[in-house]
Amino acid sequence: MIAFTAASVYEQSMSILHPYISRQVASFHGDIGVPGDKSISHRAVMFGLLAEGKTRITGLLQGEDVMRTLAAAKHLGAAVETEGEDVIMIGTAGALKPPQEPLYMGNSGTSVRLLMGLVAGYDMAVTFTGDASLSGRPMGRVITPLAQMGVDVDSNDNRLPITVRGTSTIQAISYQSPVASAQVKSCVLLAALRARGMTTLTESAPTRDHSENMLTHFGVTIETETAHDGLHMMRLQGGQILKAADVHVPSDPSSAAFPCVAALLSKDSNITMRSVCINERRAGLYQVLRQMGATLRFENERIEAGEAIADLVVQGGSVLQGVEIDPALVPSMIDEFPILAVAASCAQGTTTMRGLGELRVKESDRLAQMAKNLAACGVNLEEGEESLIIHGTGRPPMGGAHIDTALDHRIAMSFLVLGMVTQKPIIIDDISPVATSFPVFAEMMNSAGAQMTPYEGSVNAKDGK
Ligand code: S3P
Repeated sequence: MIAFTAASVYEQSMSILHPYISRQVASFHGDIGVPGDKSISHRAVMFGLLAEGKTRITGLLQGEDVMRTLAAAKHLGAAVETEGEDVIMIGTAGALKPPQEPLYMGNSGTSVRLLMGLVAGYDMAVTFTGDASLSGRPMGRVITPLAQMGVDVDSNDNRLPITVRGTSTIQAISYQSPVASAQVKSCVLLAALRARGMTTLTESAPTRDHSENMLTHFGVTIETETAHDGLHMMRLQGGQILKAADVHVPSDPSSAAFPCVAALLSKDSNITMRSVCINERRAGLYQVLRQMGATLRFENERIEAGEAIADLVVQGGSVLQGVEIDPALVPSMIDEFPILAVAASCAQGTTTMRGLGELRVKESDRLAQMAKNLAACGVNLEEGEESLIIHGTGRPPMGGAHIDTALDHRIAMSFLVLGMVTQKPIIIDDISPVATSFPVFAEMMNSAGAQMTPYEGSVNAKDGK
């Protein structure tokens, strides 16, 4: 396992690769401590920065992406302390400081898109930069609404580096985003906090609502409503100051998805993951896995700080069945398609996934990376412009491939899970990117019986095996 540091393991990986090998295991048992939810962690830090008073965050994800947001919060005026495992933020009560240097966002799309909205209502210029992957990702989706609010944004053809020239005369807007994106929604809500008037936002499809839940928890009034046509609407009156509130970050369902699928694919397994966020706008994967015949239960269901939480108990031993996935579920499982594709590769029959265009602009082109690497492992599949169709045989594929992760954390973890059940071990070109979301992944998986270790040989990932 690689040691996690707040400095950039991810950047080091650009020059020094850490190949890993995952071998077939007979059983997979135990309690897995899944780290804090990435989306909720980013928001807890950002809202703690804006709030008046002291915000205590318990269970904050200590991953690189969230550390980028935390570093930015300090540059913008938050005082940050630690008490044991807790992070304490003394907020700015809405009086941000102009940062003295560009804010480097590393690999984190959530950091940059949300912070662009957060700073938009202040009379200051803030420059955002990022790593090679983030610098290639589309930012027009947040620049468009900010421009409508009267904010001047300089960009490199809608890509980073970007300078937001904020203004305290920012205007409220009515906006319907053409992409179903919680990041776009959250950017507009954060900008709307400072705007003159009532901002109205309509979602074409319901996306994760952690911003709405946490704004309410921090004392902001935000009205939500589902219109006759089924569209979700939000209204937020500008000029509201957040009141500090303690946040307990639940475990990340997107991270829990990896041990969950590992357990389902193993013949002899029983895995428990405690306090996992099961917000229905995040839990699409679990619904689909049940449809496929998975044995998984939510126990001790409860609500904490507006978020639904449960312990997740998973048992393997039955062969999953291929299914057609309802495209309406896509936003509620947008980050889970790499690991779902692994499950589908071992299932009996065809799994059809459509409406996946957004996967092409994530940390990598996830559609292309999954199709290429699964094919190298012996999986029969069809890749379309916005779809992936996988023909499973009811048994794991042969494996034995060298995986090109494209430095994408979720591709890396997906193939390490697949290696637990393939006849031949699977080697990934680099484990470093998992530090962005699940820094202790290999250690946790190994504690329950996985065999994921550094690989000393040479890796030929670009051409597969
Ligand atoms: C996130 C929203 C999703 C998701 C990302 C985190 C968030 O992106 O893929 O990992 O925290 O708001 P989009 O909303 O752009 O789909």
